[in-house]
Amino acid sequence: MRLFIAIDLPLELKKTLVKLRRDLPGARWVPTAQIHLTLAFLGEVEEARVEQLRAELARIHRPPFPLTLTGMGCFPSWQQPRVLWVGLLSQPQLLALVAAVQNALRACDLPQDERPFSAHITLARLKRPVGREVAEFLAQPLPDPLPSLPVREFILFQSRLTPHGAEHLPLSSFSLTPG
Ligand code: 2AM
Repeated sequence: MRLFIAIDLPLELKKTLVKLRRDLPGARWVPTAQIHLTLAFLGEVEEARVEQLRAELARIHRPPFPLTLTGMGCFPSWQQPRVLWVGLLSQPQLLALVAAVQNALRACDLPQDERPFSAHITLARLKRPVGREVAEFLAQPLPDPLPSLPVREFILFQSRLTPHGAEHLPLSSFSLTPG
């Protein structure tokens, strides 16, 4: 099964981010309910390995922390934007959680993401580069004030590819604080 580990976001924030959408030709917007912050993408994992992965992830305990959104950006470059996102402050608590997740994957002998972690929330993917409209979209300031973003848990998701796009199914959630 195709798996990834992510922080789900409060519905209020998802709705706020959806309001940033513009009419961008060729943009595929992430459905509101699916907006998330990926901690690690695992890709295909044998079903038999999932129990061990759950056990390793359940051992992660850290103090809850708030996320801070910084501004809009894109991958791979401003000249050729393909993924449009909202960035987050790479604060130590978030990086420590990502490192703990990566340790859990290592303990299960699962492959690590090849790309270094970059804290972002994908809003849209572009089928083809579009110019001015994207620059205008990315130049928008984030709404002020933003809803607060307390992180108390993270989730192991299955991503099922369908003809209508990926479906995200939460398999297990892991509380940062025990008990
Ligand atoms: P993204 O937000 O940068 O697009 C589920 O597919 C999540 O895993 C997406 O949010 C995606 O991050 C992330 N991901 C990372 N590497 C991926 C890959 N090679 N294929 C698909 N998704 C990937």
